[in-house]
Amino acid sequence: MIQSLRGMNDILSPDNERFEYFLKVATTIATNYGFSYIETPLLEETALFKRSVGESSDIVGKEMYQFIDKGENDVCLRPEGTAGVVRAFIQKKLDKAGGIHRWFYHGPMFRYERPQKGRLREFHQFGIESFGVDNVYEDASMIMMVADILTKLGIGYKLELNSLGDQNCMPEYRDSLVNFLNKREDAICEDCKRRKITNPIRVLDCKNRECQTIYKEAPKLLENLCESCESDFTKLKTILDENNISYEIDTHLVRGLDYYSKTAFEFVSDEIGSQSAIAGGGRYDRLIEFLDGKATPAVGFAIGIERLLELIKMPESSREGWYFGAMDENAITTILKATAQKRKSEKAVVEYKPKNLKNHLKGADKLNALYCAVIGENELNDGTIWIKNLEEKTERTVKLEEL
Ligand code: HAM
Repeated sequence: MIQSLRGMNDILSPDNERFEYFLKVATTIATNYGFSYIETPLLEETALFKRSVGESSDIVGKEMYQFIDKGENDVCLRPEGTAGVVRAFIQKKLDKAGGIHRWFYHGPMFRYERPQKGRLREFHQFGIESFGVDNVYEDASMIMMVADILTKLGIGYKLELNSLGDQNCMPEYRDSLVNFLNKREDAICEDCKRRKITNPIRVLDCKNRECQTIYKEAPKLLENLCESCESDFTKLKTILDENNISYEIDTHLVRGLDYYSKTAFEFVSDEIGSQSAIAGGGRYDRLIEFLDGKATPAVGFAIGIERLLELIKMPESSREGWYFGAMDENAITTILKATAQKRKSEKAVVEYKPKNLKNHLKGADKLNALYCAVIGENELNDGTIWIKNLEEKTERTVKLEEL
């Protein structure tokens, strides 16, 4: 029997209802914030991710579903959504046009990771990207939007916050970190020795315990910010305080993708095991230039949908829509016509098999329908239909035209 690939799941009952509910809540909130839908391809040129997510990242270094297609193009399944949206933004020449562009998207992402609880090879993200706003108020809005989505879904969270500085303060910080690492070269792990050369700040979120002990003494990013980064970070904290969004500062939060500067944040849950990050994002003011566009400030985030599913508190489901059934084969055509009519405005499900009334009522109940509508022999002769409201427990018979 052919099975789905390792780390790639089907989404069906009972998760499908939660998945759909999540998308409904997230898209409504994103729309309320003034964002509109964007869709980009699942397959892109490999170079796009090498130049954005970064060659030093695990995602590009180890986890890409990369292959040469029939036209000899080096392509890969997208491991994340930001790079594709930035490519579309530049390709449409919106960088040159200027103005503010705000988008949301959702869909599958692919990373060849070692599957475990909460870590899949195909997973789904809901993402947001905002282009053209260079002030920290937009960063605050991003964080507030994630908080709104999680709160609406009844999910508790911890917010971790950091600033990664910009091109004024980051190079100096990087030098002092490399200096620190050079003096401890023998004690740090092989991965960190490599990171020291490719992208030194990535050492800060090394999972190796000995490394973490060493990095407690490392120079702190937040203590080395330039005036403008420092002032933005203070503003961001003030806005979050005023909106009752609590946060913890994590000076070692550097994110697993190379394109960030200034604000970086992660939402984590302590209820889902070791893969605890449920959303992550930040500012990426340099990325548009890196991809040959005109410099444009940008900020965004993505939520990992599968990680949230078990945490979602679903609203109590109430009865809705119609169940249609016939008690006799002769009435099926009429019942199909009545269902088709109802479906133009409401949910209506039809049972094709003739059954007695008791069994039709059972079927309607199982579907959580509000109305059970049945045609038996009498109704067929009279041109009527029998209807029961399953919530109010009332019944009546009406002319088919009045349905
Ligand atoms: P990311 O932190 O790599 O950021 O991914 C965002 C979220 O996707 C994570 O917090 C996690 O919930 C989920 N996720 C990541 N990998 C997996 C996996 N293997 N299995 C299940 N869920 C996973 C980004 O992707 C950035 N593009 C976010 C962003 C948008 N930054 C700015 N704009």
